[in-house]
Amino acid sequence: MRNKLQMAFALSGLFFVAPVHAGDNIEGLARTCYGCHGTNGVSVGQSMPSIAGLSADYLKTVMMEWKSGARASANMTRLISGYTDEEIAGLATYFAKLPWTPVVQKASKDILAKGKEATERCESCHGATGGEPDDKDTPMLNGQWAKYLELELMKYRDEGFQMVHKKMIKNARKMEAGDIPTAAQYFGAQSK
Ligand code: HEC
Ligand code: HEC
Repeated sequence: MRNKLQMAFALSGLFFVAPVHAGDNIEGLARTCYGCHGTNGVSVGQSMPSIAGLSADYLKTVMMEWKSGARASANMTRLISGYTDEEIAGLATYFAKLPWTPVVQKASKDILAKGKEATERCESCHGATGGEPDDKDTPMLNGQWAKYLELELMKYRDEGFQMVHKKMIKNARKMEAGDIPTAAQYFGAQSK
């Protein structure tokens, strides 16, 4: 049946891409993310987040929010809309099983000291170095790319940008503007 269906899709026109079904080949789907997110979800680009080892709940929430339109993204909305809910859940589970691999970025003593101070309020949810989230809805920040963290903080602060998580929005808006890059670099410099 499936072969027939795929044949039908293949024959139905050049503009039609046969969907890959969840469970069939999640690994194959995951590989389509590597071009941007790095091999096995460990990013090598400063404004591109690593996604391997984030919790399945968080990954799924974010992708489903993009799909529903509740959360904005210039890069991910269209891409994720092409996947079924099952495929999204499969991708979330797949990447959650891979290890979190911090990319430790250098920061000066001064930045580290100021960053520690600026992130005291963040500790209850993210842990002192961003590596001990208090629940499954909270992403790892230690060794995540600082530039990416900075850009995300700007989105939570921007009233015109659609983000969802109320507490994180509130926390980001309470920060001094000058503390945003410092906090981001502080977390980016942490190995665990
Ligand atoms: C064309 C490049 C590109 C591709 C391909 C891509 N992404 Fe992304 N992704 C991004 C960018 C850029 C961001 C940063 C957030 C944004 O711009 O909205 C992101 C963010 C994310 C995040 C949020 C991470 C976090 O810490 O909150 C998740 C989850 C994600 N992508 C999953 C995926 C998955 C799964 C795939 C493959 C099915 C994929 N992405 C393919 C560019 C891409
Ligand atoms: C009440 C708990 C809580 C507090 C306090 C908190 N956060 Fe968060 N943070 C979260 C949650 C939950 C998310 C995921 C939100 C979402 O789904 O959009 C998040 C997401 C983030 C992200 C995005 C990471 C990514 O991968 O996209 C950054 C950056 C961040 N927090 C930084 C901070 C900083 C800096 C502070 C302190 C000024 C802080 N957080 C305080 C709970 C918290």
